[in-house]
Amino acid sequence: MADKPKLTTDAGAPIPDNQNGLTAGPRGPLLMQDYQLLEKLAHQNRERIPERAVHAKGWGAYGILRVTGDISRYTCARVLQMGVETPLLARFSTVAGELGAADAERDVRGFAVKFYTEEGNWDMVGNNTPVFFVRDPYKFPDFIHTQKRHPRTHLRSPTAMWDFWSLCPESLHQVTILFSDRGLPISPLHMNGYGSHTYSLWNQVGERFWVKFHFKTQQGHRHYTNTEAETVVGQSRESYQETMYRTIEVGDCPKWTVQVQILPEADAGQLPFDPFDLTKVWPHAEFPPIDVGTMELNRNAEDYFAEIEQAAFSPSNIVPGISFSPDKMLQARIFSYADAHRHRLGTHYESLPVNAPRCPVHNYYRDGEMNSTGIRSGNPDAFYEPNSFSGAEEDRTAMEPPLPVSGAADRYDHRKGNDDYSQVRALYNLFDEEQKQRLYRNIAEAMAGVPDEIVQRQLTEFSKVHPDYATGVNAAL
Ligand code: NDP
Ligand code: HEM
Repeated sequence: MADKPKLTTDAGAPIPDNQNGLTAGPRGPLLMQDYQLLEKLAHQNRERIPERAVHAKGWGAYGILRVTGDISRYTCARVLQMGVETPLLARFSTVAGELGAADAERDVRGFAVKFYTEEGNWDMVGNNTPVFFVRDPYKFPDFIHTQKRHPRTHLRSPTAMWDFWSLCPESLHQVTILFSDRGLPISPLHMNGYGSHTYSLWNQVGERFWVKFHFKTQQGHRHYTNTEAETVVGQSRESYQETMYRTIEVGDCPKWTVQVQILPEADAGQLPFDPFDLTKVWPHAEFPPIDVGTMELNRNAEDYFAEIEQAAFSPSNIVPGISFSPDKMLQARIFSYADAHRHRLGTHYESLPVNAPRCPVHNYYRDGEMNSTGIRSGNPDAFYEPNSFSGAEEDRTAMEPPLPVSGAADRYDHRKGNDDYSQVRALYNLFDEEQKQRLYRNIAEAMAGVPDEIVQRQLTEFSKVHPDYATGVNAAL
C-alpha cells in the first residue's frame, strides 16, 4: 500500500494527534493553545455558503460538445465550427426546492451548460422547457415568491401559485408543460434542454441571425406519474443523483443532439408573434431545427462542492459569434446571475477552477478578497490602460455587428394584444387522451385547498385554450 499523506494544518504544519484534545490533565479543561482544534472548528462553521436563491438542488457532470454540422454561414463562433470539440460542465436542477429537496418532484428542470471554449466560457443557462412562466423580468421575483415558502406558515402555498398564475395568463404555456408528462422526468438524462430565449449568432461578414438552441435527449423521454414519484421519493430523495452518477461512472455516457432554429435578423418584424417573447416557441414547420452536433456527459466531479455547488453559470457569458437578443427577460438575466455569484461565491468566483476559462485571462481588475490571480495585464507596470508597458489591449476582431434599436422609452403593457392561447392550444392538441387525463389530474391535485374564486379564474383561462381543457380539469377536481 502506498504511503498515506500526513495530516497538516492549513498552514502546512504537521498534526500529531487528530483524536485527543490538548487538556490540563486527562479530564480537562481544554487549553486555548490547541490551535489545531480551533482551526478545525472554525472551518466547520464556514462549510456552508448561501444556496442558490433558485435552482438550489442540482446534479452535474463534465462532458464534451462535438460539432458535426456546418453552421458557419450563421456564426463565426469557434465553438460552433465543424469538427471542433469543446469540454463542458453541465448542471441540471429543480427550481423551487431547497438544497435538500427530493429529486423526483414536479417542477421545471434547469439545464445549464458551461462550454470552456478557446475564446472564453460560453454559458447556456436553459431549462427543460422551451418557454417560461413570465415575459417581463419585473415578474420573476414575484413568481419565485409563489414557489417558495409562505412567510407565516413556512409551507409551500398552492394558493399563492394559482393566484399568481391565474392573474398572469402569459404563464399558461409553461403551466401546461409543467403539469403534463414532461413536468416530471425520471432523471435529467431523460429530458430535453432548451436555451428558451432567442439569442443571436453573427458570422464573418457581420450578418446577424436570431437563434433558438435545443438539446434533444438521445436517451428518450421518460416520465413519472405523480403516484410513481411518491413511491420513488419514499424510497430515495436522491434518485436523480443516483441515476446520473452511476450511469456516468459505469461509462454509459448520456447524449443530447444539439440543434438550432434560425431566423434572419431582418425577418423578425414579419412574424405574427414577437420572436423575443419567452412565452412563445418558434413553430418547427416554419423554423426547422438544424443539427449542430452532440453533447455527451462522460465524467463525474471529484468533489461535488468544489465543482458543482461552486459552479457559476451566467447568460452573460457569451463568446464572439454568439450574443443576446432584445428579449427583456434575457436582458435582466445578464445582470442577475453575475450579481448572484458575487454574493454567493465572492468577487473572484470566475477564477475558481471550475469556473476559470481554459484560455488566457487578461484585464486590469485588481485586488479584492481572496485574490489568487495576481497581475493579469501581462506586465506589473501595466496596471491601468492605455499604457506604454505592453499591457493587454482590446481585440477589435471580437466586435459584434451594430444592432439597430428604436422606439420611445416607455413601460409597454406586455399583456395588451398578446395571444397567450394559440401556442398552448397547439400543445394541448398534441396530447393524446391519456396524456390529457394525466394533465387534468396533475392540475387538480396541485389545486387542492385553493380558494374557489382562484380556481374559477384559472378554469376561465384554461377554457380560452380549449373548452375541453377547463371541463377536464373541472371534472378531475
Ligand atoms: P410540432 O408538432 O412541429 O412540434 C411539437 C413539439 O412539441 C415536438 O417536436 C416536441 O418538441 C414537443 N412535444 C411533443 N410531445 C410533447 C409533450 N407531451 N409535452 C411537451 N412537448 C411535447 O409543432 P410546433 O413546433 O408548432 O409546436 C407546437 C407546440 O409544441 C408548441 O406550441 C409548444 O407548446 C410545443 N413545443 C414546441 C417546440 C418548438 O420549438 N417548436 C419545442 C417543444 C415543445 P421537441 O422536439 O423539442 O421534443
Ligand atoms: C439560477 C435569476 C430566469 C434558468 C438562477 C439564479 C438566479 C436566477 C439569481 C441563481 C444563480 C446562482 O446563484 O448561481 C433569474 C432571473 C430570471 C431568471 C432574474 C428572469 C428575469 C430564468 C430562465 C431560465 C433560467 C428564463 C431558463 C431558460 C436558470 C438555471 C439556473 C438559474 C438553469 C441554475 C444554474 C445552475 O445550475 O447553477 N436564476 N433567472 N432562469 N436559472 Fe434563472
